Amino acid sequence: MADSQIDSVLKESRSFPPPQAFIDNANYKPADIEQLYTSAAEDHTGFWAAQARRHLYWHQSFSSVLNDSNAPFFRWFEDGELNASFNCLDRHLPERADQTAIIFEGDDGEVENVTFQQLYERTCRFANALRSNGIEKGDRVVIYLPNIPQAVVAMLGCARIGAIHSVVFGGFSAVALRNRIQDAEAKAVITADGNYRGGKLVQLKQTTDKALEEGCDCVETVFVYRRAGNDIKMTPDRDIDWAQAVADQPAECPPVNVESEHPLFILYTSGSTGRPKGIYHSTGGYLLGAICTCRWTFDLGDQDIFWCTADVGWVTGHTYIAYGPTACGVTQVMFEGVPTYPEPDRLWAMVKRHGVSVFYTAPTAIRALMRQGDQYPQRHDLTSLRLLGTVGEPINPEAWMWYYQVIGGERCPIVDTWWQTETGGHMITALPSYTETHPGSVSKPLPGIAADILDESGQRVEDAHAGGYLVIRKPWPFMLRGIWGDPERYQETYFGMFDALTYVAGDSAQRDHEGNYRILGRTDDVLNVSGHRLGTMEVESALVAHQAVSEAAVVGRPHDIKGEAIVAFVILKAGAQADGLADELRSWVAEQLGSIAKPEEIRFTDGLPKTRSGKIMRRLVRSVARNEEITQDTSTLENPQIIEQMQAEEVR
Ligand code: WTA
Repeated sequence: MADSQIDSVLKESRSFPPPQAFIDNANYKPADIEQLYTSAAEDHTGFWAAQARRHLYWHQSFSSVLNDSNAPFFRWFEDGELNASFNCLDRHLPERADQTAIIFEGDDGEVENVTFQQLYERTCRFANALRSNGIEKGDRVVIYLPNIPQAVVAMLGCARIGAIHSVVFGGFSAVALRNRIQDAEAKAVITADGNYRGGKLVQLKQTTDKALEEGCDCVETVFVYRRAGNDIKMTPDRDIDWAQAVADQPAECPPVNVESEHPLFILYTSGSTGRPKGIYHSTGGYLLGAICTCRWTFDLGDQDIFWCTADVGWVTGHTYIAYGPTACGVTQVMFEGVPTYPEPDRLWAMVKRHGVSVFYTAPTAIRALMRQGDQYPQRHDLTSLRLLGTVGEPINPEAWMWYYQVIGGERCPIVDTWWQTETGGHMITALPSYTETHPGSVSKPLPGIAADILDESGQRVEDAHAGGYLVIRKPWPFMLRGIWGDPERYQETYFGMFDALTYVAGDSAQRDHEGNYRILGRTDDVLNVSGHRLGTMEVESALVAHQAVSEAAVVGRPHDIKGEAIVAFVILKAGAQADGLADELRSWVAEQLGSIAKPEEIRFTDGLPKTRSGKIMRRLVRSVARNEEITQDTSTLENPQIIEQMQAEEVR
């Protein structure tokens, strides 16, 4: 976030109490929320145990609530047993078999309603197909599908038999997909022939084939769902048509009840190094977080049509599409396409068409649609909406106000939810019937979430204007359980700074005198482009893998719509020509990582500012990228003259 942006956020003094009409119709009234806060403050573990008994169906109940004897390797509800898909499907059937679980709208506008009964049957059939193909409890399955109900079926199908899914976003490249398949040692991949997004064909099967060309011997089976009908190559003895695989399978599949701590899924996310981290979550604790936050933050109940616009490839789509709404028995909208196709009113048309009451999206989408103009939302009656949410990055007050006024008609509270892949669900957010909100502030930690802000020495930051490290001081049930295959990295990254109980989020934050938090941005080398996390090192590694590049430094600079844009400084190998190379490098990075990682700007340079020990001084590179005046002392640099040269370089 630029300094000017921080200033404007700090000067923000508007506040919005919960509208009375919202409170009157709320499922959780202010007194209920008050009660949650009180009981959580009195007894942290007792509070979570009570929630776990209230919201989950346990096949075998638990007696141990939290085992912290081997911190930071925490275990919640460890002697309990349950099945996640049972909790999302079977237990609703007596009351909700014919209720719509998913209102699916395809890219082309086709609509399909899937009832809970149908979702249950499809999940069972698919789970049986997985099993018939040798997938068992604990096996890893990579899912590389569009944002379509089959992705939910695939996820819940894995959960049904205790297999661990790892969804890879459909926009990721073959190389990124391959790395994830290898790291997880996946036994199967579930993909589609292709799909249309914004009218353009995405070649998922072709990319999968490319990913599997090298070093993926672990993969025995590839399930292929026919979505686009495009021509694909099927490899005999490996590839199976989804329709064929489920054709003769029974519509019932007894759930495999797993220990509460059994990993439900792995989801790869960016960190400070070039290697993505396989964050994995537990079954019981994670699912509890999904349910509690859907109930508390989104106030979801029987009257709601919920819509989270994220893709299932991100954690937001895991918690607020695949697991949360289904576990709550709530009807939701799922969308395959993009907000601007065929026209920039697509989301608003869909809100009207499906009667959406609770809508959850990202600031980058809000900013992009705000820029298109008010005429698009004004074409549609949006009065079905009662609550709005945002996630993924700090929202600037201007976008917040537009969302509030133009989309919410000054009637809907906004919940700005801070959380991460690692936290599994919302952590700091307004609660809609309860919290007075302020544009740009994520409000307060949820009941049972011990957030705090510390300085470098571990002291609590009391000053409302000073930033500090955002930490969580007590374990919570839906926290990550580890980094797949790398317990040391887990310990170091998240618990290495203070002590084994203090989770370090990697964000800096401020807290005002009323205890409201503002998120200032990442403290590590992680970029947030359009709400998606990307490690600077990942992009750098991709660049140096190109034959013409000898070295690269990647930083972010503020961008009106994307939040942050990627700027790459590139040193070429001797003899390599810069002409025409910028575009080639952009495509190269897209091929290596996916098109979200394409640098916005590439600047060729002869050197990078380095300390005498050879470390790139990222802060300086960032200042150059942002055209800021360099005020810090550069005399300790190995090559102080390089700064001026970098500032003078042409942007490509
Ligand atoms: C950022 C997405 C400000 C933050 C759920 C965090 C936010 C990272 C907010 C996690 C918010 C998320 N306000 N910043 N409401 N929500 N972030 O893992 O930097 O993709 O650490 O999870 O996004 O991104 P991730």
